[in-house]
Amino acid sequence: MKQQVPPRCSPPRRGGEQIPFARPWITDVERDAVLGVLKGHILTHGPQCKAFEAEFAAFLGVPASGGAAHCVSTSSCMAALHLAYLHFGLGPGDEVIVPAQTHTATAHAVEWVRARPVFADCDPKTGNLTAKRVEAALTSKTKAISVVHFLGIPCDMPAIMEVARRRRLWVVEDCALAVGSRFDGVHAGLFGDAGCFSFYPVKHITTGEGGMFVSRHEGVAQAVSRLRAFGVDRTHAERSVPGMYDVPGLGLNYRLSELQAALGRAQLGRVTENLDRRRKNFAVLKAGLSKVKDVRVLDSHDARAKNSHYCLEVVLEGPLSKRRGEIVAALNARGVGTSIYYPQPVPRMAYYRKKYGYSPGSFQHAEKISDCGIALPVGPHIETGDMPRIVDEFKAAVKEAS
Ligand SMILES: Cc1ncc(COP(=O)(O)O)c(C=O)c1O
Repeated sequence: MKQQVPPRCSPPRRGGEQIPFARPWITDVERDAVLGVLKGHILTHGPQCKAFEAEFAAFLGVPASGGAAHCVSTSSCMAALHLAYLHFGLGPGDEVIVPAQTHTATAHAVEWVRARPVFADCDPKTGNLTAKRVEAALTSKTKAISVVHFLGIPCDMPAIMEVARRRRLWVVEDCALAVGSRFDGVHAGLFGDAGCFSFYPVKHITTGEGGMFVSRHEGVAQAVSRLRAFGVDRTHAERSVPGMYDVPGLGLNYRLSELQAALGRAQLGRVTENLDRRRKNFAVLKAGLSKVKDVRVLDSHDARAKNSHYCLEVVLEGPLSKRRGEIVAALNARGVGTSIYYPQPVPRMAYYRKKYGYSPGSFQHAEKISDCGIALPVGPHIETGDMPRIVDEFKAAVKEAS
């Protein structure tokens, strides 16, 4: 795709202006790309999706095992996760190790194939699953490991892959928050058997709704590509007679449209600048909060891990841990948008609690992050020069709430 210098997304936010937690970074490049598709007549099954898949694969680079990344655009990250478990043939009686500290989509995808999610607690410093915790959750029924790179902090994938290899388990990486996250130079999603990305509006890049299934195995990507489009045996381009195809197996309609793919390509054209802004914003915020008592910041603690800074998560300790509601309210009143990742560890959500039971304290680190964490904004919608304001407002909010 032709690279263009993007116009600025918006004037810098100064003084008392609102700073949203996240805002899609949409410019005339995106508007022109979507209008360009509308000026034509191909709205699905077209060249934009193909190009987006190829460009995303080029951005990801080389998998841990060598070779190339193979990408299949999907209607969401959850769709990509569902396709992964369907393709790997998981079903009743199978167990998948799932981090407690994640979005409910990570576990729902396992439930939809009628397998059982077996939840594991996270590392308190990163919010991530570790090889040790995976080992502790293994049973004779374990068939797969679901890994989430929490808030862009990459998991130690070589260690997790070692367990998977020993036990011959599928590994599905949930990369919903991990565009740009790398471990030892390899992009998240390219260690396991499948990687699933999200392009929901608050994510690193957006297509409105949308996702990408990624695999280092070409055959897996090809099969998933068919599964994503009703299970038909040939694409539009492969049909010698229009409308003629056969259906060798079941499938779904989890496709991305051409409009969304065009939007994604425009976003991808600016992803390096986007990640750079996030990195700088995160650094200023982290340094500014480093001396605030009873506040700790989640980040990678391994020189091989490259965080992609989805947001900056603070976890409140000591007396502050009881004051999250007040601090969030004070921050919001001061114009700083926040979010919570996630409102509950998944096993404590009503559906899972009722189905599998739950005893308080069984996922103590995930509970701590869910109950005492505040996600602060670092996205490209904020000028780095404005980040000290978030530090000041945070300190003031803490003082007010104490
Ligand atoms: C870790 C994780 N996985 C999956 C999803 C679902 O993504 P999507 O909305 O693209 O299905 C989310 C959404 O925030 C997420 O945070």
